[in-house]
Amino acid sequence: MTHADLLEVELEELLRNEWFDPSEDFVRDALIQDLSVHAEAERDPIAWWEKQAAALDWFEPWTQVLGDENAPFYRWFEGGKLNLSHNCLDRHVAAGIGDRVALHWHGEEGESRTITYAQLLADVERCANVLKARGVGPGDVVGIYLPMIPEVVVAMLACARIGAPHNVVFGGFSAESVHERMAFSNASALITVDGARRKGRTAAVKSEVDRVMDGLTHLETILVVRHTGTACEMRAERDLWWDEALAAAEPHCPAEPLDSEHPLFILYSSGSTAKPKGIEHTTGGYLTGVAWSFKHVFDLKPQTDVYFCTADVGWITGHSYIVYGPLANGATSVMYEGAPDYPHQGIWWELCERYGVTIFYTAPTAIRTCMKWGPEPVRAHDLSSLRLLGSVGEPINPKAWVWYWLVVGGGRCPIVDTWWQTETGQMVITTLPGAQRMKPGSAGTPLPGMRAAVVDEAGREVQRDTQGLLTLNRPWPGMLRALYREPDRYVSAYWERFGAPTYFVGDASRQDHDGYFWVIGRVDDVINVSGHRLSTTEVESAIVSHPKVAEAAVIGQSDEDTGQAICAFVTLRGGIDGDDATIESLRDHVAQRIGKLARPKRIIWAGDLPKTRSGKIMRRLLKDIAEGRELGDITTLRDPDVMAQLSAAIVRHGADED
Ligand code: WTA
Repeated sequence: MTHADLLEVELEELLRNEWFDPSEDFVRDALIQDLSVHAEAERDPIAWWEKQAAALDWFEPWTQVLGDENAPFYRWFEGGKLNLSHNCLDRHVAAGIGDRVALHWHGEEGESRTITYAQLLADVERCANVLKARGVGPGDVVGIYLPMIPEVVVAMLACARIGAPHNVVFGGFSAESVHERMAFSNASALITVDGARRKGRTAAVKSEVDRVMDGLTHLETILVVRHTGTACEMRAERDLWWDEALAAAEPHCPAEPLDSEHPLFILYSSGSTAKPKGIEHTTGGYLTGVAWSFKHVFDLKPQTDVYFCTADVGWITGHSYIVYGPLANGATSVMYEGAPDYPHQGIWWELCERYGVTIFYTAPTAIRTCMKWGPEPVRAHDLSSLRLLGSVGEPINPKAWVWYWLVVGGGRCPIVDTWWQTETGQMVITTLPGAQRMKPGSAGTPLPGMRAAVVDEAGREVQRDTQGLLTLNRPWPGMLRALYREPDRYVSAYWERFGAPTYFVGDASRQDHDGYFWVIGRVDDVINVSGHRLSTTEVESAIVSHPKVAEAAVIGQSDEDTGQAICAFVTLRGGIDGDDATIESLRDHVAQRIGKLARPKRIIWAGDLPKTRSGKIMRRLLKDIAEGRELGDITTLRDPDVMAQLSAAIVRHGADED
């Protein structure tokens, strides 16, 4: 048998097991070794969260743990004052661990920078002073559009230090998306970069931003990190170079005591409509939830562990589990700038070996990509330092789970499959690695203090092993507090369906006979491409804004690599079919409007779209067609012939370059 066949046999063997156990060694050293913590939290969730909040540094104590008088506008630790940058930096320096490495940064071209807690604090203080000197104060929104470089962490913490909510836009989104998000959030400053690197190429960023940023009168400052040396214009009065401004700034900036409910950040995420949701998180509750979950789900021993999360800071995973969770706990992290296959397919594993990574957190789509590349790039490196693995972003298929377990973890490392959302702020459903057994494909159970249930359309809890809608039934500290300036939408999107305190998640799920949750996928018009959330309507409106397009309907089609892929049914003006050039021009157009990640993988020309008599597009049927399934009920269609025409029209799979 070849090596590949042998691996296949081993994986098949593993797939026969329903349960996996952490090793005795792991359990012996684990922070949590049994379920008593769940029982303790269940007896009195409020007292339990209060105890976790007390692990942070507060300038003033809270007067009330949970304020639910105005539900669903919940408030946590009201009356308390704290500062997250103080909790992530000053208190560690004061405790004598300022020399501990906060970040091992590794650049795409092999450069590295080691940044201690004391150094990070020094940069954050200066950056905070730069913002202050530009008139940015508590409550003023600051946009951040940066690649994975240490400055993104400095920028976020500097905002937190002065109480300016940050609004980070993922570096893969287009300048147009940045414009839209800066406009929605009324940002007064933007922190960006001259250029970004991707797989050996350099792309201009600042000059792209300039192209679209005119007209935002409230945007008074653009602070530009010098990274690639790409030329750009600097507009007097408005633009500053990061290095010059920080060097000239006052070195000391005290952390502002902020109310527990002071807004910490806004992060735009896709919802069911074309307009992204400005998900707002606040200070005290968010850090309580994130700091507790980071420490206990990853069983962190800050003196010895080295943690590597492959997400981008531009997503919630980056906010909660690259920046705030690890730094609040004094952890040492690896931060990597580049793509997983640049300069080679083993770069992540090379970094694990070089820095002695012990805890590794990635997404199922990345694991499936690694499976495609085969085990060699992994096995070329010594991964014996790894002791715990994590997964996030979408359901992990059992085959990918056992591959991760065997090839990356050497059959030695527990895997925590963490279910949560931008809205939940913190992990919600997972196993605690030293206390619970694992089932590949199931995220596990709600964390201590949290409650989840699977319900039917009427909100009644369904029987075990039955699919239904996932709900969370008790407020938790890391929960979102609002949609930025859209209180009605906050209520209608999450709370109206079943009534507070039942939070409508938007995922389908079932709970098995052991109480473990299996998350199936979204029930709304959100598509999950490689763990990135996009809304069908957002992509549709980008396509429809192309001059040749009359109408478009977008669906998420199952995809072996990316979980879901974007498939667009497009009607061109004049009802004609497009050619290859039109396909490219449409894909470019979407990249321009939203970002490369939103480009449809597949475009199908449609003379007409299947609509009900009231004119609603039946996406369910489009999904059936795209995935080659037998069509469901088509009797409600205005014109059933449309389906036959569509079946004939499936033309082409476009390939994604990145
Ligand atoms: C999906 C990412 C199954 C889910 C942190 C959720 C998951 C959406 C998992 C949120 C998981 C995330 N198992 N599904 N472990 N983690 N999801 O806001 O559909 O980018 O609603 O937050 O991703 O995506 P978001």
